[in-house]
Amino acid sequence: MKLDAPQKGEILSATHRSDEVLSFLARRRSTLARAMTGPGPDQKQLDLILRIAARVPDHRKLSPWRFIVFQGAARATFGTYLASKFHTDFPDLEEDRVQFEGERFLRAPVIVGVVSSPKNCPRGTPKWEQELSAGAVCHNMLLAARASGFAAQWLTEWYAFDVEIASVLGLSDSERMAGFIYMGTATQEPSERARPNMAALISKWEPQD
Ligand SMILES: Cc1cc2nc3c(=O)[nH]c(=O)nc-3n(C[C@H](O)[C@H](O)[C@H](O)COP(=O)(O)O)c2cc1C
Repeated sequence: MKLDAPQKGEILSATHRSDEVLSFLARRRSTLARAMTGPGPDQKQLDLILRIAARVPDHRKLSPWRFIVFQGAARATFGTYLASKFHTDFPDLEEDRVQFEGERFLRAPVIVGVVSSPKNCPRGTPKWEQELSAGAVCHNMLLAARASGFAAQWLTEWYAFDVEIASVLGLSDSERMAGFIYMGTATQEPSERARPNMAALISKWEPQD
């Protein structure tokens, strides 16, 4: 098993035939953040998960994303900002609802915020493509976490879109949150969810009359 970072120019395989990987993908499911506990990935495991997450298609190699890691006491500290903003926005809500906001980041031992950070590209990689690359980072991270033995879920919830929380997170005006990847140990196994009718989603292109 090769987990080290390949050197630039190193010859890599064009294919990697693996029934295990196909089964892993065919049966992938998220685990709800509220069904997580510790432990989460340790530093070495997290380093690998982040390195794999960053191995995504990236038009013109702009790395139009970055990571914000929440671990330990920082999760509760960040929660104080969530609770405070929530209370400001909804002053009439019950105290336990505000408390829930304060404890959101305590649901999992490790949370990684993926920031979509599109670059001004003179050669013209569209912002849309750069944002798609950030989405691919999130999904790669889910897969790498699960393959490392951790449950994971991709959430945005309200705070991914809140302007004041964006400032607490240190986002620039051109950045936005692609999501928060919660990682931990599952307290219960997920079950299969409803799936779309694939036939309804697939068509063959034909010239329009
Ligand atoms: C960009 C994005 C944001 C999401 N945000 C939320 C969210 O805020 N709350 C939620 O319950 N699920 C959210 N989800 C869905 C879950 O991550 C998950 O995909 C869903 O529960 C279905 O489970 P599955 O991944 O096993 O199919 C989001 C998914 C994506 C792609």
